[in-house]
Amino acid sequence: MDDRAQQRQLPPLPTTVIPPQRYSGDAAYAEEVAKIFRRSWMFVGFADDLRNDNDFITAEIAGTSVLVQNFDGELRAFHNVCTHRYSLIHLRPCGNGKPVCPYHGWVFNKDGVPVGIPGNREQFGFSEEDRRRLALPRFEVAVRGRFVFVRLEAGGTSLDEQLGAYGLVLDHLSETFTDRIDDGILPWAANWKAGVESVLEVYHVDATHPETFKKFTKKVWDCSYEKEHSRGTTHLSDGSVRWWDGVNQKMGLPRSEMLRNYDHFFVFPNLAIGITHGSLMSVQTYDPVDPDHCNLHYRLFLGETSKPQTKGGAARKAVEDNLRGFNVQVLREDQVVSEAAHKGLKQVTRPAVPGWGEERIFAFHKAYLDRMAAE
Ligand code: FES
Ligand SMILES: [Fe+2]
Repeated sequence: MDDRAQQRQLPPLPTTVIPPQRYSGDAAYAEEVAKIFRRSWMFVGFADDLRNDNDFITAEIAGTSVLVQNFDGELRAFHNVCTHRYSLIHLRPCGNGKPVCPYHGWVFNKDGVPVGIPGNREQFGFSEEDRRRLALPRFEVAVRGRFVFVRLEAGGTSLDEQLGAYGLVLDHLSETFTDRIDDGILPWAANWKAGVESVLEVYHVDATHPETFKKFTKKVWDCSYEKEHSRGTTHLSDGSVRWWDGVNQKMGLPRSEMLRNYDHFFVFPNLAIGITHGSLMSVQTYDPVDPDHCNLHYRLFLGETSKPQTKGGAARKAVEDNLRGFNVQVLREDQVVSEAAHKGLKQVTRPAVPGWGEERIFAFHKAYLDRMAAE
């Protein structure tokens, strides 16, 4: 322990962090796609959008477009790329309809086989066996609560094993937060890890969010860890608690019995879930696009109101607008600093020096580096 740490009675900080060179460049990116994004259960969306026969969602997992579709009650995931001449099959983030390629109209069945090929006899003369060879690659899909996950590379741990104790958290959140009030994507010019890091710590709150987040939480941050994941809990400011109590009461919004503060969960590698006052769930993924860009996919949920007559009313609309506006404002503030850090980290080789308010970053980095060290 060095002198200063002793003076302040702080335990020594971990020193192992991801070197800045790992945040840019094609080689580092290709390695993390292979060792993290292809091998992990990746969160791709909510079962809410897959309730009915032929409902589908699409997602992009580090450069691989994936479709998840309800085939007569069974969820199956496939590569969302046509085996004829490469068009994406489903073009929208979600919808209802069989997998039909928009380019030349090939129709795929629940095994991913093109069973409908316009003009097959004159154009190709494909036999049934030929068509089976042209099936879409299939991926594993697993659901926990209403959270849907896909894994590109078969084998390895089950979703439940990957989530550990956080599986129960996802169950609880799935039961509690059923009413989606926002869903959007913000493209960031930053490596996905720089995005993730901005949600893992509260040290930045005063400087980055002086008018927003700073006013709404106290600066205590209790952290705990589960497998590759982590949790941080802080207390809401008194003003914020009063505002929420009023809103809950007026709008008939339920409140989680388990999560009462600002409870933030990070599920490795890129899923972040924040619960405010047990009443609002914010779900974010930092989806890699390339070494220098990620898409921040955000969603907001409330619980189901016990006063349905308030839904669609002016007061409820004002609350929703307020929550949506606040959320996007905070995310834009994070975007500014994450993009600034991304520019900076390309110019240095010296490792970063996170402090105790950033302790969850050490766990994120350790999980990442352990994955990189694997074969
Ligand atoms: S590219 Fe899909 S049918 Fe031609
Ligand atoms: Fe932030």
